Amino acid sequence: MAVIVDIKTFAAIGAGVIGSGWVARALAHGLDVVAWDPAPGAGKQLRDNVANAWPALERVGLAPGASQERLRFVSTIEECVAHADFIQESAPEREELKLALHEQISRAAKPDAIIGSSTSGLLPSDFYARAVHPERCVVGHPFNPVYLLPLVEVLGGERTAPASIEAAMTIYRSLGMRPLRVRKEVPGFIADRLLEALWREALHLVNEGVATTGEIDDAIRFGAGIRWSFMGTFLTYTLAGGDAGMRHFMQQFGPALELPWTKLVAPKLTDELIDCVVDGTAEQVGPRSIKELERYRDECITSVLAAIGETKARHGLRPED
Ligand SMILES: NC(=O)c1ccc[n+]([C@@H]2O[C@H](COP(=O)([O-])OP(=O)(O)OC[C@H]3O[C@@H](n4cnc5c(N)ncnc54)[C@H](O)[C@@H]3O)[C@@H](O)[C@H]2O)c1
Repeated sequence: MAVIVDIKTFAAIGAGVIGSGWVARALAHGLDVVAWDPAPGAGKQLRDNVANAWPALERVGLAPGASQERLRFVSTIEECVAHADFIQESAPEREELKLALHEQISRAAKPDAIIGSSTSGLLPSDFYARAVHPERCVVGHPFNPVYLLPLVEVLGGERTAPASIEAAMTIYRSLGMRPLRVRKEVPGFIADRLLEALWREALHLVNEGVATTGEIDDAIRFGAGIRWSFMGTFLTYTLAGGDAGMRHFMQQFGPALELPWTKLVAPKLTDELIDCVVDGTAEQVGPRSIKELERYRDECITSVLAAIGETKARHGLRPED
């Protein structure tokens, strides 16, 4: 099966938070980008989002020829994907919608163009069920902001060809990303299962009045969050075992796993809980606009990435290690 790996034209279907992020990343890597989104005013919103991301992308470094001018917003799915070498769908997370959408996208796409979906946890065997040439259809699950965070989880469905998964990994790498192959097709993949567990506990803590939303964020950003940016849970806990390492850690903290620390079953989303979370986060945001906060977030991320990159180099490691 021949698929295109050396891509020149990137198509984005859906241009909300995640679709805009893909568009910004692809433009920064010097590609031509064609986008489609059915919402009124979506074209302008997309250009605003890309412009807000651009200073961070300039700090990271633009590819030769990279320009916001190389974005074209079109009015049909067919026009969007007809000449694309690679297509990334970032439409709302609803299986029925993605099922119909991928039937239409795959009919109009070049047969050798890889099609990726940004789904956070739906199964590709399900929503690619009506796709034409399903062997070239994959999931490429990114993280917000897509234009800065390297991780993309890649997996296929029952009918996806292994060669397409390899091709998608190569394409994502060419966009400066760090693809992670997910070995099994499971709902929520890897990262969102972990994040979902943390999110459920955070909601329980708010619901029980143990902490405010801001205090819970403090508990992450001044502690584990700093470690997580360069070392995951397993290696971190290995060091927590001291020189005796992971076996000692598991012996020491194993009993805590028997204690009822975590709830994990999600709390009921009552109006009170929703208000409490919305009011709490509104206080955290304060007078800042979302766009302003995004620029602050982006500057922090680029600083962290640069610092980690330099440190890795001093330790003889590559950025992807
Ligand atoms: N927000 C995140 O943090 C995040 C992270 C990773 C993956 N995702 C996934 O990315 C996808 C998009 O999420 P988002 O956060 O960008 O949502 P969003 O609501 O910001 O954007 C969705 C966009 O899709 C458009 N749309 C509506 N109907 C459509 C259709 N039929 N075809 C194409 N586009 C349509 C909407 O107008 C909107 O612009 C979802 O599958 C989601 O699970 C989200």
